[in-house]
Amino acid sequence: MNTDAILLSLEALKVCREINVSPSSALYFVAKKRRYSIKDLRMARKILHVYSIYRKSAQKCLKKLVVGSSLDWLGITILELISSSIIGGINFGDISQLVSSLRQAMGKNWPEELEKYLGILRFVSSSPTIEVNYPNWFMKYLEKMIMGRIETERYLDFQDKVNPPMYASLNTLKVSIDEILKLADEENVLLREDNRLPGIYIVEASNTKGLKRLIDKGLITIHDFSSYYAVKALRPEPNELILDVCSAPGTKTWISTLEMKNRGKIISIDSSWKRIRSQLKRMKFLDATIVQLIQADATIPLPLRIEVDKVIVDPPCSSTGLIWREPFYRWVIKPRHIKMFANLQSKILENSAIHLKRGGLLLYSTCSITIEENEIVVEDFIRTHPNFELVEIPLNIGSQGLRGLTETRRLYPHTDRCNGFFTALLKRRY
Ligand SMILES: C[S@@+](CC[C@H](N)C(=O)[O-])C[C@H]1O[C@@H](n2cnc3c(N)ncnc32)[C@H](O)[C@@H]1O
Repeated sequence: MNTDAILLSLEALKVCREINVSPSSALYFVAKKRRYSIKDLRMARKILHVYSIYRKSAQKCLKKLVVGSSLDWLGITILELISSSIIGGINFGDISQLVSSLRQAMGKNWPEELEKYLGILRFVSSSPTIEVNYPNWFMKYLEKMIMGRIETERYLDFQDKVNPPMYASLNTLKVSIDEILKLADEENVLLREDNRLPGIYIVEASNTKGLKRLIDKGLITIHDFSSYYAVKALRPEPNELILDVCSAPGTKTWISTLEMKNRGKIISIDSSWKRIRSQLKRMKFLDATIVQLIQADATIPLPLRIEVDKVIVDPPCSSTGLIWREPFYRWVIKPRHIKMFANLQSKILENSAIHLKRGGLLLYSTCSITIEENEIVVEDFIRTHPNFELVEIPLNIGSQGLRGLTETRRLYPHTDRCNGFFTALLKRRY
């Protein structure tokens, strides 16, 4: 079982080399083209998950031993994959047996040069340290700017060791809650309502095929708690007119539709035609009939002449809050991205807010935890738009925003069991 999972993982990493995607997305491409068992796919996902976290630890272990070697990419990657798996606590059993079945399975593709270095694998042990497993700048940033050293360690340690929960919302546009829960029960899918926020469910245990059937029938949708939280903070109501800017793939549009009981109108805007098309398909599939989709670039004035009751602005961000679900992002995100996104976010906020009517509410959210993309964007906006004010988010979840923006909220994986997230609610006064 492990041999095939390692081969799948290696193929995925080859794809990562060719096109710039994360190992988990690459695995998705590979799995579409190749025969595999569900067990192998799950194991490969686990191997790539720990590889994304512990790759640097593995490189540190191997550094002295393979220095000056003529190992090629494949040889080094095999060593790194197995080492990071061991560091991450995956039990492969007897390593020499694993290596021998890999050698057999790869046949002439097996890198002969690797033979000299296989002994190294015996000395790799499970001893991950946070310092090695995160870029230095990110740890320093969190320590100095966000939460101090102790909390930073707690946060990062938590997100590397605890698997994120799966959250679901129920499609009450198709059938009643009771009926969905009954069907879930029949499929051996255990859904427990999250007692922090009624209406969102934790998938506690599931038979994978049963869960897939519920999703394929459009009865439940899987998304993070933070998306649900953000929409609940805005409180969309039936018959309102809502503008959702940067809407695709449409999770917040969808949750708003549920809150509005599919009555009223949501104008969803996104710059990507591809994502707009997939949102359109998704909305049809879920029976959301109040959504109108428009392709437009929100960094310039939107092609609209309307004033709406509520606005959602969920712009692209550096995704620092998504590292829990996508550990590889830690190696991809760079400080320059934060500045670049903050600039984009300010423009998008500006062009969206202009369409809010007097007394209306605007939700600004990102799945990043940096202050540049959140508190500073909001601060700058309020300074230059005195007709807007921050209002308290009526949900007692998460922690207060930084820089004295106590009305805004921050969510973190280790304290709120969801993606790192920021939410601000702004009201247009006049
Ligand atoms: C964080 S995602 C939005 C997630 C979405 N709100 C949801 O709940 O499913 C950001 C989106 O912004 C879109 N985007 C990026 N640049 C944009 C721009 N200049 N104007 C409009 N949309 C943009 C991306 O295509 C992407 O779909």
